[in-house]
Amino acid sequence: MLRRLHAEQPESFAFTPANLAWAEAQVTKYPEGRQASAIIPLLWRAQEQEGWLTKPAIESVADMLGMPYIRALEVATFYFMFQLQPVGSVAHIQICGTTSCMICGAETLFKVCQEKIAKTPHTLSADGKFSWEEVECLGACSNAPMAQIGKDYYEDLTAESFAKILDEFAAGRVPQPGSQTGRYAAEPASGLTSLTEAAAGKPAHNATVTLALKHGDTIKRIDGSEVPVLTPWLGKAKTAAKPADKVASPAASAPAAAGAAAVPAKPAALAVARGGKGDDLKLIKGVGPKMEEMLNRLGFFHYDQIADWNAAELAWVDDNLEGFKGRASRDGWVEQAKLLATGAETEFSERARKEGLYDKD
Ligand code: FES
Repeated sequence: MLRRLHAEQPESFAFTPANLAWAEAQVTKYPEGRQASAIIPLLWRAQEQEGWLTKPAIESVADMLGMPYIRALEVATFYFMFQLQPVGSVAHIQICGTTSCMICGAETLFKVCQEKIAKTPHTLSADGKFSWEEVECLGACSNAPMAQIGKDYYEDLTAESFAKILDEFAAGRVPQPGSQTGRYAAEPASGLTSLTEAAAGKPAHNATVTLALKHGDTIKRIDGSEVPVLTPWLGKAKTAAKPADKVASPAASAPAAAGAAAVPAKPAALAVARGGKGDDLKLIKGVGPKMEEMLNRLGFFHYDQIADWNAAELAWVDDNLEGFKGRASRDGWVEQAKLLATGAETEFSERARKEGLYDKD
C-alpha cells in the first residue's frame, strides 16, 4: 500500500502541556546524542492526541529531537500503525484479516464496515464518526474473528454483534470489550474440559477486560492527564506539572531551600552581534539553523555569552525556547560553549566542521 501524507493538513500541531511534559521525559531515557531514539513513542503520542499523524505533528516531533524532517517522515510512513489520514472522530476500526479471523468470518465484518462506515478502508463515514481498515494478525487468534477499536479488543464477533457494537459507539456508549459470546478468556468455546475447579470463584472478567473497564479509555484521545509522567530511569519520580502550576507567582516559585530550582532570570543580551558577526552557534550540539535564529532574536550571538549563563539564566533560556523548551540544559549548551569560547572543539563541533553536518531543527 502506498503510504503518503494526506493532501489536506492542519496549519500547526502542539502537544498539550501534559503530553509535552511526557514527551520531554521520554527523551531523557536516551543517552546524549541519541535523542532520535524517542521518535516512535513521540509520534505515537502525537497520534494518540490527534487521532492521526499530521505533517505538522511529524515535523514538530522532528524539531524536538533535532532530526531532519525526512528522517521522521521515513519512520511515520514506514510503520502501518501510524495513520496518515484523518480517522473517525469517534473510532477507527481495525479488523484482523489474517488466517484464523478470515476462516472464522472476518469477511462478514468487512461487509458491515462497508455498509455502515464507508465502501473503502481509510475513508471517513458520512458523519465523520468512523473509519476502518483491515490489519494483520492482532494476536487474539483463538477468539477469532476480532477487531481492535481504540485501545481494546472485541472478540468472537459475528456480523450481528459487530454491527450492534458500532451502533453503540455511534450512540455515544462504549460496549464492553473482550469476547462477545461470553467466553471468559481463550478457553474452548464449548466450555472448560480441565482445571474446572480453578474456574470457580474467578472474577467477573478476565484481567484485560477488567483493566479496560477500570481505565474506561477505549476510545479516549490521550491528552496526557491520564497518568503522571514518571522518570524512574533518572532515579526519581517526576510528575508532569499541571498547567496551573506554570502560572504560580514568582514568590510561590522561589526556591524554598538550598538545592531548589533557580528562579529564571533573563541573561544579559545584545541588540546586535559584536563586530557585526556572531559565532557559528550551530557548532553547539542541539542548535540548528532555526534555533540559531531564535537565539539571535533573544540577543545571544556569541559562545562567551552562553558560557556565562548561570543556573537561573539557563532556566530562563530553557523556558523561552519556543517549541524546544528545556533543550539548552538537556544538551549541555553552557559546557559546550565554554569550550568553544576558548577556541577548543567539542566532539560534535569537530565532526560538524569536518563533515559540514549541523543539527537540523
Ligand atoms: S488471525 Fe486474527 S487475531 Fe490472529
